Amino acid sequence: MKDYQQPSPDLASETAPTEFSVARSDFPEGFVFSTATSAYQIEGHAFGGAGETHWDAFARQPGKVHLQQHGAVACDHYHRWEEDLDLIRDVGLDAYRFSTSWARVMPDGVTLNPEGLDFYDRLVDGLLQRGIKPMATLYHWELPQALSEKGGWLVRKTPEAFARFTDVVARRIGDRLHNVAPVNEPWCVAWLSHYHGAHAPGLTGLENGVRSMHNVALAHGLSVEVLRAHGVPGVGAACNMEFPLPARDTDEDRAAARLYDGIYNRWFVQAMTRGTYPEDVLEGFAPHMPEGWEKDLERIHAPLDWFGVNYYTCQRLQAQSDRWPYYSTVPGPLPKTDMGWEIAPEGLEWLLLRTAADFTGDTPLYVTESGMANPDVPGRADVERIAYLDGHFRAGLRAIERGAPLAGYTVWSLMDNYEWAFGYDKRFGMVHVDFDSQRRTPKASWHALGRMLRR
Ligand code: FCB
Repeated sequence: MKDYQQPSPDLASETAPTEFSVARSDFPEGFVFSTATSAYQIEGHAFGGAGETHWDAFARQPGKVHLQQHGAVACDHYHRWEEDLDLIRDVGLDAYRFSTSWARVMPDGVTLNPEGLDFYDRLVDGLLQRGIKPMATLYHWELPQALSEKGGWLVRKTPEAFARFTDVVARRIGDRLHNVAPVNEPWCVAWLSHYHGAHAPGLTGLENGVRSMHNVALAHGLSVEVLRAHGVPGVGAACNMEFPLPARDTDEDRAAARLYDGIYNRWFVQAMTRGTYPEDVLEGFAPHMPEGWEKDLERIHAPLDWFGVNYYTCQRLQAQSDRWPYYSTVPGPLPKTDMGWEIAPEGLEWLLLRTAADFTGDTPLYVTESGMANPDVPGRADVERIAYLDGHFRAGLRAIERGAPLAGYTVWSLMDNYEWAFGYDKRFGMVHVDFDSQRRTPKASWHALGRMLRR
């Protein structure tokens, strides 16, 4: 698989189906279909004694989040979780990927809130009672604000505190999980939030970016150690990846795409699976790495039971030479989702094959997130989402045919929710949420998914 060639994406078809062209029976026996959400995006952090998170603080700063919206109520899942789990059971999904909020379980990042832990205990039992496999993510971005004020992901104390949070969660629900990943999308936690400043805490600059890129990797490693010590089954990782394409057919742009690939796609998976960081990225990162980072790689590198890829889009890179990293992103020609993200399912195929070939080998792969934002209104079928998911399911099938050990596919998201810096403006759900009444209305894609799973 090493010589697998990077294909150039075809223009996605614009025909709008109301059914999936694939069926569950096209996938290998035991393939796990699931859907995902995350704590801060759905639960309602005003409830149950949850602590202030860095997203609450970020949203208060003018200009950071659409209409300064926050997750105080979100989808009120904290009170409506039973109704939400019934939906997942009734559509016929096998598993549900949820996350545990650090600030709910430990409002200041350190002190236990028993009510918070009880919530996840009920949730896991509720899943098992409904025959749904619980897939947990320990950290999906709601850092307790108290820890953020003490340096957050820029300081080593945060990965250490995360190991203690892992311990508390593992003791309580670790025995009943199907699988678990410590950190959702390490690249977003680190680079997007501390270099680009687009997510909480909104920091910028190479030094902040680099420090967080190491500390988040360390958090993964320390958390895996704790999970293993408790014998929690199915320990893995969920990393976001983008399909890197040179903007023009030149050596310079190919080098730009390669470097982007290093920072975005290879940094974490290489550290986790080989215990090294990519040389091309270290070239720019080395001067800013925290002291003693080399010694940490041994702890970041630990065998995983599965590896998850979150995939949404491709990215086009153009060389620019005035400052490292030497690239800028440029818009591309493919049809786009409501996020403005190009639709490029072949990128998923490429990333699954490359990840297996170069890093994870025979370790089972999961698509841990895949989906699109669409300006949905109740009463109009979200045929765009059916087409999007269909194209990506087919890309997953092609990857399987070419040898990728893909074991499951998770759609983002169960329902419309708080889309971070975009507030409630972007709808990723297969179930529509009216944020005034909290009424849930399954969309056409949800019904079509149910039919696909029964075929
Ligand atoms: C991913 C995040 C998820 C959601 C989707 C659209 O990067 O993990 O919380 O925001 O994008």
